[in-house]
Amino acid sequence: MATPIVELKSVGKSFRSADGSARSVLDGVDFTLREGEIVALLGQSGSGKSTMLRLMAGLIAADSGEVLYRGLPLHGPADGISMVFQSFALFPWLTVQKNVELGLEAKGMPAEERARRAEAAIELIGLSGFEGALPRELSGGMRQRVGIARALVMEPDVLLMDEAFSALDVLTGERLREDILELWESGRISTKAILVVSHNIEEAVMMADRVLVFASDPGRVRDELPVRLSRPREVESSEVRGLIDNVYGLMTTGTLRAGRVTEKEVKLRLGDRLPEAEVARMEVVLEVIADEPFLGRADLPKLVAETELADEELLDVSSALTLLGLAVLDHGDIILTPLGQQYVRAENIERKEIFGRQLLEHVPLVAYIRHGLEQDPSGDLHEDMFLRLLRFSLNEADSNSALRIAIEWGRYGDLFEYSFNTGVIKMPESEAVARE
Ligand SMILES: Nc1ncnc2c1ncn2[C@@H]1O[C@H](COP(=O)(O)OP(=O)(O)O)[C@@H](O)[C@H]1O
Ligand SMILES: [Mg+2]
Repeated sequence: MATPIVELKSVGKSFRSADGSARSVLDGVDFTLREGEIVALLGQSGSGKSTMLRLMAGLIAADSGEVLYRGLPLHGPADGISMVFQSFALFPWLTVQKNVELGLEAKGMPAEERARRAEAAIELIGLSGFEGALPRELSGGMRQRVGIARALVMEPDVLLMDEAFSALDVLTGERLREDILELWESGRISTKAILVVSHNIEEAVMMADRVLVFASDPGRVRDELPVRLSRPREVESSEVRGLIDNVYGLMTTGTLRAGRVTEKEVKLRLGDRLPEAEVARMEVVLEVIADEPFLGRADLPKLVAETELADEELLDVSSALTLLGLAVLDHGDIILTPLGQQYVRAENIERKEIFGRQLLEHVPLVAYIRHGLEQDPSGDLHEDMFLRLLRFSLNEADSNSALRIAIEWGRYGDLFEYSFNTGVIKMPESEAVARE
């Protein structure tokens, strides 16, 4: 086994919420980053990936467990560990050269030496000639190159990249990723290990020696998939496609269960997070699956390509369709149920009917809102009531998102109406009249 560089041992971290209660973000995180490896970390947004990176960089302290760097407990920012962020965080009034030099300056390195090292880092990352440019004169891809040069100039032992390619357009991101891999393979950088947080499954499989899948609430490493392929890798090769399929399988079985998942196995509770899946998105995905030659069975990675959804968005749509009994998941494939097939064939009115019925049966939050309205069909209910309820079990962002989704779904299923101006939820017009 290669030498460990950074070790997390049963690490826990909580943050205080707005209402003063503590929320556990990471719990029992075990992870070792070793010499010579690139590791990718995938997981839902909000699952604690950035928090884990900040712990590893010594930017924040763990509440429990241990963080070791080269065998010693980490107290404060470690010299050998550099981070690259999604937002480039460059100083707008400083030139590329000065932005790259900043870390060295902070360490008290003499001007001449730091200028030399910054020039070398700028050249390494392909920005020669732009030393005197200001950030606003650069494209997004070039700005991120400055961000990376700023990390590399420190000659870090460990490079932590937090969604470093996410803000870039696809081609720019790929190019930069390839350049970094080439620097890594050629040994022109002294970096011994790289950890990349990504929300792009293909990116993870193309870069990493191991792909870790993070679980949410609280965050911890749930699964690990070794990638034993040499680099550079061919994105269309059957090995890479197969691994991408496997990661999809791992990620979908996290919210649901391993192997084939039937609609009955997915049971939501009233205060659970809902998948962020708008109806329009679900419909697009359903139509694409229905168009597959193999009678409504589609491969998730292929759906990403055809629907242009991000991985996380498609995973949310898949969990929503499963939840509603319109589809089941099977080892990285999604398959329409008979009801899903009926839905796709149906006209709009019948679709809404099916949707509404499934909501009442499978989404407790929607059923609860509807039940509240039925108690007093002429009455209105304010959304805040439900938000307060959700806040018992979810953080603010997840509560807002769950209620927004429940309302969108319920309106589409003709279970209630909602006023965006007043935040009031009421019975659909048609039913309210029928009851009077
Ligand atoms: N400094 C902080 N104070 C309070 N809550 C925080 C802080 N940093 C992160 N969180 C919360 O911790 C959770 C995980 O955040 P983060 O690590 O950024 O997740 P990810 O990077 O996986 O999207 C989120 O719910 C976030 O709101
Ligand atoms: Mg993050």
